[in-house]
Amino acid sequence: MDQVSIKEASQFIKEKLSKTPTLGLILGSGLGVLGEEIENKTFISYKDIPHFPESTVSGHKGQLVIGTLEGKQVIAMQGRFHFYEGYSMQQVTFPVRVMKQLGIESIIVTNAAGGINESFEPGDLMIITDHINNMGTNPLIGPNDDELGARFPDMSKVYDPEYIQFAKNCANEIGITVREGVYVGNTGPVYETPAEVRMLRTVGGDAVGMSTVPEVTVAGHAGLRVLGISCISNMAAGILDQPLTHQEVIETTEKVREDFLRFVKKIISDLPNS
Ligand code: 6GU
Repeated sequence: MDQVSIKEASQFIKEKLSKTPTLGLILGSGLGVLGEEIENKTFISYKDIPHFPESTVSGHKGQLVIGTLEGKQVIAMQGRFHFYEGYSMQQVTFPVRVMKQLGIESIIVTNAAGGINESFEPGDLMIITDHINNMGTNPLIGPNDDELGARFPDMSKVYDPEYIQFAKNCANEIGITVREGVYVGNTGPVYETPAEVRMLRTVGGDAVGMSTVPEVTVAGHAGLRVLGISCISNMAAGILDQPLTHQEVIETTEKVREDFLRFVKKIISDLPNS
């Protein structure tokens, strides 16, 4: 996606806003409820924004919600674009570019993921400490625009270590247990086979999902500070003797809604540099 498209999309959004957002939020499957907590909201449907793709999967809305949350100016994506829907990696990550252009400095990326780590349970919240790109491609493939970021970006601290520590402190302060771990990004749309889950555990994965890696890669390229949070909606294949369904993903995220909201709101309220 070229800079002209990024600027046209961001200009369209900017004209509808009175304040500049400083913090971006990507709300995963079943986690869009956070958008409802935003005050003085402006809604912008993806289909109205120039160059934005349209969101198709059920359980995802397709709009930006912009306003004040815990005293911070936020721009939230209620619904994201997935590679498995057929969007290109450039389309999947376009909103991150636009949010950066709008002025955000930090981004909180959330998702529903399957637990690979056998000590996890459905309903756990996991702070993402690192990821494994298992998608077989990368959103930064192609000519590099040096104004957007480096040709060969360093990924050693893409999940901001201060934010990780900060989020752990927040969880402590509000008395909820959180896990930490490595998120594996797969393309989907299939869930993994049990053999694949064993492989992913062997290579160091703790949770697996079908998103986040592209957006975080582009956020890192753009110099945004990233915090990632997974809701473990179910155990990955072969751990429990039960089939995986999108229904379970949605049901579990509904059950942890209260903790998820308290946790993310506490983080946003106290987050430095946003
Ligand atoms: Cl088990 N796998 C993947 N790839 N994505 C998921 C999931 C599992 N559970 C929720 N999202």
